[in-house]
Amino acid sequence: MFTIITGAQFGDEGKGKIVDLLAKDYDIVARFQGGNNAGHTVRVGNEVYKLHLIPSGILLDARVLIGPGVVLDPEVLAKEIKMIEGHGIKVDASKLGIDAKASIIMPYHIEMDKLREESREKKIGTTKSGIGYAYIDKVARDEIRMAELVDSERFLARLKELAPQKEKEIATMGGNPKIVRDPAIIERYLEFGRQFATYVTDVSREINEALDEGKHVMAEAAQGTHLDVIHGTQKFVTSSSTIAGSACANLGVGPTRVDNVIAIVKAYITRVGEGPLPTELTGELGEKLQKAGGEFGTTTGRSRRCGWFDLPLLKKAIALNGYTEISLTKLDVLTGLDPIRICVCYNYKGKNVDYPPELTEDLWECAPVYEDLPGWKNDLTEVRAFEELPENARNYVKRLEKLMRVPINYISVGPGRAQTFKKE
Ligand code: GDP
Ligand code: IMO
Ligand code: MG
Repeated sequence: MFTIITGAQFGDEGKGKIVDLLAKDYDIVARFQGGNNAGHTVRVGNEVYKLHLIPSGILLDARVLIGPGVVLDPEVLAKEIKMIEGHGIKVDASKLGIDAKASIIMPYHIEMDKLREESREKKIGTTKSGIGYAYIDKVARDEIRMAELVDSERFLARLKELAPQKEKEIATMGGNPKIVRDPAIIERYLEFGRQFATYVTDVSREINEALDEGKHVMAEAAQGTHLDVIHGTQKFVTSSSTIAGSACANLGVGPTRVDNVIAIVKAYITRVGEGPLPTELTGELGEKLQKAGGEFGTTTGRSRRCGWFDLPLLKKAIALNGYTEISLTKLDVLTGLDPIRICVCYNYKGKNVDYPPELTEDLWECAPVYEDLPGWKNDLTEVRAFEELPENARNYVKRLEKLMRVPINYISVGPGRAQTFKKE
């Protein structure tokens, strides 16, 4: 079985929590794109794991893979392995595999990301972790790959080849070119190479062989659908393709092998960084949602902008991903709000439209048209079955399901593993 899980909104939908929950039924969990711009929080009992690179399946028995479409910062990986081992989970080559072609994020990529963002008149609000510049180098065929990182001779030769060009670029951007050949950095990277050498694998081959043997494989996305570099709200997007089809392309698995595509959908919407968010709530209500949902970035600590559920954006996410089912998260956060609003369409140039216009500049012009539903007062965090939800919460879920026309299979009412139930 091959399952793809993606975020249906602007990221932070609760992918980490749901992947952790489902991973017990999978032999392999593989990350297919992005890098440590992602922050996936998994809570197990009183312990909180913040994962940026390693798939959330690591906490269970699954083998976890980092695919060739990922941009990998070795500093972050080393810290993450240490953090996980600190919790008593052994991370060795039988548990973690990294594709030989994964692109390495170098300190100069981070520097360039920062310099570029600072010089932008209209900011994107990137995580400043070098993601965009690492992907630029991949496309420009100037990347350093995992296979080079773990082979000191090849690493040094590749860096020598690339350095003059990188130094020139950084100097032009107003930065210090010394970062490119800093001896302390090079020594650290050579050490990372030695540390990670045993993890190197061919992810596409591993997954295809596992599927041939009847094993279960899950592809875990980072970010969210509307941050997709092709189909998202450019220019306010990340630098990789975040939608389901990208899992096949990036992992090297044919689309005929996909069995199901699961959407992670938050019961409202959030966004970190700049860009349009038609249902955004500024003021008291927005702050209330932010506080109740703990909407502060896992990676950068920035506050997440919050808004009501946006159906047009969800419809587009369904089209882009071909979802077969939905996991609805953070329903508990809406407790105490009355009414609860669903944006069912936009008013765009005087007309009601139920699908987002293609261009970001037009999405800025869209005003939400709401349908109001009565709220509920009861705390939901102890609820363990759909029937136990207050009637108005059940009605909200049923209404969303009817509007989205994709079955909601799981409902999450808190960050813990136990705070999830099947809708049936
Ligand atoms: P991801 O990037 O999609 O994995 O999501 P994040 O981990 O960045 O953000 C989701 C946050 O919400 C995390 O802090 C989770 O622990 C938390 N969370 C997940 N599901 C629920 C839920 O149903 N209710 C509440 N209150 N918190 C949740
Ligand atoms: P997870 O996996 C939310 C946003 C950044 C910025 C834009 C581009 O936790 O859902 P980048 O550093 O990628 O060049 O920044 O994308 N962004 C995210 N927002 N969740 C994420 O990941 C994100 N990863 C990137 O805030 O607006
Ligand atoms: Mg996140």
